[in-house]
Amino acid sequence: MMKWILSSLQETADLGYYMGKQIDQRFLICLDGDLGAGKTTFSKALAKGFGVEDMVTSPTFTLLQEYQGRMPFYHFDVYRLGDEEAFLAQGFDEYWEEDALVVMEWAEMIREILPKDHMEMRFFQTEKEEERIVEVEAFGPVAEALIQQICTFFAAKGEDR
Ligand SMILES: Nc1ncnc2c1ncn2[C@@H]1O[C@H](COP(=O)(O)OP(=O)(O)OP(=O)(O)O)[C@@H](O)[C@H]1O
Ligand SMILES: [Mg+2]
Repeated sequence: MMKWILSSLQETADLGYYMGKQIDQRFLICLDGDLGAGKTTFSKALAKGFGVEDMVTSPTFTLLQEYQGRMPFYHFDVYRLGDEEAFLAQGFDEYWEEDALVVMEWAEMIREILPKDHMEMRFFQTEKEEERIVEVEAFGPVAEALIQQICTFFAAKGEDR
């Protein structure tokens, strides 16, 4: 598990955009952590880097929003869905079979059924208003490669911790 400081909103957006640029195959990114820590903010920047031009709203009340970037981009927020059973009842697991980038806020709510290959990112508040901590954990080779690129991103900023 890797851990970095995001010292500003801009840095969170830069990380998301950078990662969105790197991803060119089917992938799942799970976003968890504190309420209001930056999952949606990060998702929007990720979408932009992935080539989505029109990501406007948070999916909080819609569970799922579909976009088109270099591949389909699916933005989930499963906070209100609650559990694995409800998720499967909606057939949402089918989205993992597509050649698409799936981003899922509050994925820990369905942790029992997550596919083996994915990346877990947890965002936490700190006592500084615009500072966040992000913990990143890779599951599988695609995520391992991406985490290396994230290391490069932070090293370039001189903030590798
Ligand atoms: N370094 C930072 N990274 C991300 N967001 C930041 C940062 N600093 C301040 N913010 C602010 O924190 C808020 C994050 O809200 P956002 O909706 O992205 O969080 P969230 O984790 O998706 O919330 P929820 O748990 O409700 O889904 C925004 O208002 C954003 O401007
Ligand atoms: Mg959110």
